[in-house]
Amino acid sequence: KKRVAILISGRGSNMAALIQAAKSSDYPAEIVGVFSNRAAAAGLETARQEGIATATLAQSRFETRLDFENALTAILDGWAVDFVCLAGFMRILTPQFTTHWLGRAINIHPSLLPAYKGLDTHARALADGVAEAGCSVHFVTPGLDEGPVILQARVPVRLGDTPEALAARVLVEEHRIYPEALRRLASGETRYPADVKTGSHHSD
Ligand code: GAR
Repeated sequence: KKRVAILISGRGSNMAALIQAAKSSDYPAEIVGVFSNRAAAAGLETARQEGIATATLAQSRFETRLDFENALTAILDGWAVDFVCLAGFMRILTPQFTTHWLGRAINIHPSLLPAYKGLDTHARALADGVAEAGCSVHFVTPGLDEGPVILQARVPVRLGDTPEALAARVLVEEHRIYPEALRRLASGETRYPADVKTGSHHSD
């Protein structure tokens, strides 16, 4: 089985969905560690209850982003990780980090990329009056929320939707497509497309 670490910052419901999926004997990946940049992340407790190794590092204890990320990579290397799943990880990663993990790191984002990169996706989508919303699992590249998409799911926007109501509808789909995307990656069914550049529009 491929060894997978999950990076979180908060609740960790997508993390929990990945952990559940990986319990199946025919799933091609095992979750070997959960990392959070916030020691108070609720998901850490969930991971511990599942008997999974956890680690945290506070950015504030490092001089630079790069120092923080080098310490993070040391943790991931200690777990002998093949793939990294970002699941509600709310820190922007440097091009150095994302390039190091290119093709081996994926993220879930609550929009139909390339629409609504960044934060507050559901509020922005509702303000625009879109008929459909959804979520995407994509490869992590230097450009924020820009990497090649592995899987998407769509949900209808309903009359009177609030960002919270829409988020809840999308989250159900997140929990379905993230385990499926990781399955495809870990089994080798999906790989980083050889013809796609990393799309670094970032000026960090
Ligand atoms: C999820 O909806 C995820 O798509 C989103 O944060 C939530 C985390 O929930 N991610 C982003 O917005 C990334 N920029 P979870 O901690 O329960 O998985």
